[in-house]
Amino acid sequence: MTEQDQFDSLMAIAKRPPIIMTHGKGARLVDQHGKEYLDFIQGWAVNTFGHSPEIVVDALTRQANSLINPSPAFYNGPALDLATKLSKNSCFDRVFFTNSGAEANEGAIKLARKWGCKYRGGAYEIVTMENSFHGRTLATMSASGKPQWKELFEPKVPGFLKVPLNDIDAVDAVVTEKTAAVMLEPIFGEAGVIPASECFLKELRKLTRERGVLLILDEVQTGMGRTGKLFAYEQSGVEPDIMTLGKGIGAGVPLAAVLAKEEVSCFDPGDQGGTYNGNPLMAAVGCAVLDALIEPQFLERVREHGDYLALRLEELARRHGLGTVQGRGLLLALDLKYEIAEAVVERARDWGLLLNAPRPTLLRFMPALNVSKKDIDEMIGILDGVLSVETFSR
Ligand SMILES: Cc1ncc(COP(=O)(O)O)c(C=O)c1O
Repeated sequence: MTEQDQFDSLMAIAKRPPIIMTHGKGARLVDQHGKEYLDFIQGWAVNTFGHSPEIVVDALTRQANSLINPSPAFYNGPALDLATKLSKNSCFDRVFFTNSGAEANEGAIKLARKWGCKYRGGAYEIVTMENSFHGRTLATMSASGKPQWKELFEPKVPGFLKVPLNDIDAVDAVVTEKTAAVMLEPIFGEAGVIPASECFLKELRKLTRERGVLLILDEVQTGMGRTGKLFAYEQSGVEPDIMTLGKGIGAGVPLAAVLAKEEVSCFDPGDQGGTYNGNPLMAAVGCAVLDALIEPQFLERVREHGDYLALRLEELARRHGLGTVQGRGLLLALDLKYEIAEAVVERARDWGLLLNAPRPTLLRFMPALNVSKKDIDEMIGILDGVLSVETFSR
């Protein structure tokens, strides 16, 4: 069997280079030929502490030796601990654990619809943003405003109204007695690291309160320290009614969560659940991750290294006549001004650097939260080399 035959045994759900990653440690990944890569994708902002960190390996090993799956019919210690820790460190009271960000958003949508049914005369519509990304289940694809998905998997789940980001009048115009919630990412990740303005978030909170609808923040990408605060909502001072987490909370293992205020937590037994939801193996990792993030100075270092990365990217942009750097903490993007991002990503990979291009003109940087200044310097050095030596048609 050839390598290609093996590749063909998987459904072709993504364009992938013929590389099989075999192992990784910290900021490094190694492929089947022993080639080493400096990883500034880290599973798409997932690997909070890099590849195979002791924190995760220890938590998994310890927990696997005592209890893996008692079934969701019973409480388990790690799920209780993690729910308690999350509530203590946020503005929320109740938690439902899931296995992916999309499933968490699906849960948030269901919770908002249940709340609308119970407390707002059957309201079920959810206002979401154009170009937003909330996942790949049918409801979360329907909630997303990704233009390429418009015609895909029709008919979509009804009840999602799209408005432009940062346009409070547009939100105001579509909120009716049928509206249950407004849902958005505080910083659009997949659309190219575009922050919702602080003013918009504040106006949105005011409008949703005045009109009696819920505010849902999708912090799957921005939560768990990524932007330099434990949760991005803290930066604007706007407390949502429901928040979803994913990616970084599991630091590489499948764990995500829906968090809600007490008055919104209206699921009844049987409304929501799942075989693996809140299993102790993943929850034990979540506990270890959260404990590490709230250690004194950890988030301060994320902010410091985020500023350093932004500074180095800005220098690089000036040197090569590129555009602006946007984002916050260790979720940053560099505007290349021309549609060369895919080519730059491929060339950088040849040079041993893994980067992501969420748009044809944009590079996104999502290193581990414990990335060192040395790794940042090395990444900038490789990218500088790629941009200086290689020619890209502009
Ligand atoms: C903001 C946001 N929401 C939801 C998701 C979906 O998460 P998952 O891929 O874990 O289902 C993502 C993934 O990129 C995301 O960035």
